[in-house]
Amino acid sequence: MKTRITELFGIQHPIIQGGMHYVGFAEMAAAVSNAGGLGIITGLTQRTPELLANEIRRCREMTDKPFGVNLTFLPSLSSPDYPGYIKAIIDGGVKAVETAGNNPAKWLPALQAAGVKVIHKCTSVRHSLKAEAIGCDAVSVDGFECGGHPGEDDVPNFILLPRAAEALNIPFVASGGMADGRSLVAALALGAEGMNMGTRFIATKEAPVHDNVKRALVEASELDTRLVMRPLRNTERVLTNAAVERLLVTERERGAEVKFEDIAAEVAGVYPKVMQDGLMDAGAWSCGMVAGLIHDVPTVRELIDRIMAEAESIIGKRLAGFAAG
Ligand SMILES: Cc1cc2nc3c(=O)[nH]c(=O)nc-3n(C[C@H](O)[C@H](O)[C@H](O)COP(=O)(O)O)c2cc1C
Repeated sequence: MKTRITELFGIQHPIIQGGMHYVGFAEMAAAVSNAGGLGIITGLTQRTPELLANEIRRCREMTDKPFGVNLTFLPSLSSPDYPGYIKAIIDGGVKAVETAGNNPAKWLPALQAAGVKVIHKCTSVRHSLKAEAIGCDAVSVDGFECGGHPGEDDVPNFILLPRAAEALNIPFVASGGMADGRSLVAALALGAEGMNMGTRFIATKEAPVHDNVKRALVEASELDTRLVMRPLRNTERVLTNAAVERLLVTERERGAEVKFEDIAAEVAGVYPKVMQDGLMDAGAWSCGMVAGLIHDVPTVRELIDRIMAEAESIIGKRLAGFAAG
């Protein structure tokens, strides 16, 4: 399948794996890239630029296909060494960067001068237009369904994607709630030129996370996510568990007065405990409503091949049949 996204990144299938904290290691990114998608290493999971440079080297040993790095600019107490990370990306020869969070304008000139294509993840049409105006090559339009940070507008993809298509000139991928061939065809129908998946890629054989995490995703339904940190205007969609329910009680009790310190025990330093140690009640971790559509743990290649075969069958048979009728 050929779209402006496959052309931009030099990939076979219009499928991107979004950056995921403590999931987007070299093994994950290489598996997606080897299967014809665009795998993404999560920059900030590597605590220093030197560690990121090493992760990029490891990924290159596992694939000769293009892969990218995610750089997240979120309100953070510590200030990461962004210039160091940018240098590691450029020196490592990476040609794709997924930015997220705050406006990436400051970093675009250096990245683009080095031939890096930048796709900015946005949760609204106005942020997508801003990304286009500052010169991003593409955007990833992340609907309210998504795992992680959906923003504060709560517009689901059935509205957000066609609105983005009305407004944007640069290509975009649909993100949030994407799981299978049906998702891809729907995304293309609504104006996107590919799709970005997070949660679905965690439930794969190659995802370098504890089996408990994969099992939890297969068992979860579309009703099992919660929105946390809404009063802090830093909303995150997470899988519910004992810690999340405790956190929500704190948020209800403190109301508008709630501070980050009140919930730090449930959100800070959680990812290694969940993803590596498999402690499923350790705290809040991002998960999309798409968990309801995850029923198995295939290899990444099986997943991507299945998505493409299903998409082609829907377009060529189901939809063509309707049109012919
Ligand atoms: C466990 C997990 C961790 C994530 N960490 C990040 C991150 O560090 N930076 C980022 O930009 N997005 C992050 N995301 C969001 C994904 O890149 C992607 O936008 C989102 O998962 C898409 O929605 P979906 O889960 O419905 O596919 C994370 C998502 C999950 C599920």
